[in-house]
Amino acid sequence: MPEAKNKAVKQDFEPDILVFCCNWCSYAGADLAGVSRFQYPPNMRIVRVMCSGRVDPSFVLKALKEGADGVLITGCHIGDCHYISGNEYAKERFEKLHRIIIKQLGINEKRVRLEWVSASEGRRFADLITEFTNEIRGLGPLKFY
Ligand code: FES
Repeated sequence: MPEAKNKAVKQDFEPDILVFCCNWCSYAGADLAGVSRFQYPPNMRIVRVMCSGRVDPSFVLKALKEGADGVLITGCHIGDCHYISGNEYAKERFEKLHRIIIKQLGINEKRVRLEWVSASEGRRFADLITEFTNEIRGLGPLKFY
């Protein structure tokens, strides 16, 4: 159970967070947050993918296994995907990832999240990163035993 032994180390814990951003909306939203100088915690690294549908569940598991405490997948809002239905595919994959894999591994499901962020939602991107970072900070580090 990866979550059980984490309570003692929560106090000074700063989480490492991986964010997958689709090229067309979410990455532009992240860029807008930066250009607009919206403040958010510096705990994340962005991986830009062409579409949220490109994020294979194995990418998420590899990130968690190799040190990420939380993974956020972001894409265009439903109906706005530049590849028509890539984000709907991402949603299906994400639900399977949660239902089948995350629960079976004993990982708190809050550590992996899917959100839609458009190119004009810089404020939303900053708020989302802040909220997710605080949530993961509260959960403590993820360790595989
Ligand atoms: Fe953004 Fe498909 S291009 S989710």
